[in-house]
Amino acid sequence: MAINWIESKVIDQIKWTDDLVSIRFENKVPAYTAGQFTKIGLKIDGEIISRPYSLVSAPHEDFLEVIYVNVPDGKLTPKLHNLKKDDTIYVMDKSSGFFVMDEVPDGDKLWLIATGTGLGVFISLLKTDAPWERFKEIILVHGVRTADELTYQKQIEEFQNEHPNQLKYIQTVTREKIENALNSRIPEAIKDNTITDICGNIDKSSQFMLCGNPDMINDMVDLLGEYGLERNRRSKPGNITLEKYW
Ligand SMILES: Cc1cc2nc3c(=O)[nH]c(=O)nc-3n(C[C@H](O)[C@H](O)[C@H](O)COP(=O)(O)OP(=O)(O)OC[C@H]3O[C@@H](n4cnc5c(N)ncnc54)[C@H](O)[C@@H]3O)c2cc1C
Ligand SMILES: NC(=O)c1ccc[n+]([C@@H]2O[C@H](COP(=O)([O-])OP(=O)(O)OC[C@H]3O[C@@H](n4cnc5c(N)ncnc54)[C@H](OP(=O)(O)O)[C@@H]3O)[C@@H](O)[C@H]2O)c1
Repeated sequence: MAINWIESKVIDQIKWTDDLVSIRFENKVPAYTAGQFTKIGLKIDGEIISRPYSLVSAPHEDFLEVIYVNVPDGKLTPKLHNLKKDDTIYVMDKSSGFFVMDEVPDGDKLWLIATGTGLGVFISLLKTDAPWERFKEIILVHGVRTADELTYQKQIEEFQNEHPNQLKYIQTVTREKIENALNSRIPEAIKDNTITDICGNIDKSSQFMLCGNPDMINDMVDLLGEYGLERNRRSKPGNITLEKYW
């Protein structure tokens, strides 16, 4: 099916590291739901090359934002890396995906587990009211290799200030030791009880949303299986909703 492309201009970029960048661009697309992804593309040799990206922005904001990691031999991301303010980016005219709050069953605790750029979609969700209204407690866990990849710190601080008794934020940094962050992969830090000592037990009153590295997601699904939690499907509601990036 042919894609309808909308031309949009780059408004701003944040270079978190040499390879990790957020791009903000004009929002000219129809309404979307927090948690969805859209396709963004660039004209390369006369053809639009595009890939799906989760939106970090929220539906009420007048810009679109995504965060990407540069895949050095990738087809699109090295070109995204050359973008400058006011350059043209092509955005698909609609957003899709089921990693949205309406697909997550009710519960007491909402665990948002991300590695790398997987954090972005949770930033979008947390900018909306639904997670705060539906869950007593929200636990955001972000796993990265190095401390400079701990993105959106200011935004998370704002969430913490707005919801001081509702949000717990755990950082894991695996390839260096820093203060106030755990130093192991997320599933390991759950297995050795470090995370549950801080955030409380995992049981069927918990809903998990997992996003990022597919190996992390597979490991988490296996681990949560040991607690009796299963994938959430429309035909059979469960406790684990997930989005894999590759
Ligand atoms: C629903 C969905 C949402 C996505 N959201 C994001 C997002 O928010 N941010 C983001 O950076 N990516 C996201 N991706 C991945 C993205 O679509 C691209 O695959 C990625 O940016 C690489 O594109 P490329 O053309 O440079 O590489 P390609 O030429 O397409 O090469 C892809 C190869 O690189 C590897 N790869 C793909 N994505 C990654 C990655 N993120 N990290 C490491 N290796 C990777 C895989 O082995 C893959 O086979 C998402 C993918 C899906 C399916
Ligand atoms: N980060 C960058 O600046 C950069 C630059 C160029 C290319 N890339 C490429 O882009 C891709 C994504 O990089 P990324 O840094 O965003 O993400 P990543 O490699 O997925 O790492 C993010 C975090 O996920 C952890 N992790 C990996 N496998 C896991 C598993 N099975 N279970 C639990 N946690 C797991 C990593 O731990 P470990 O440290 O223990 O692996 C790290 O803490 C990689 O293929 C990478 O080679 C990244």
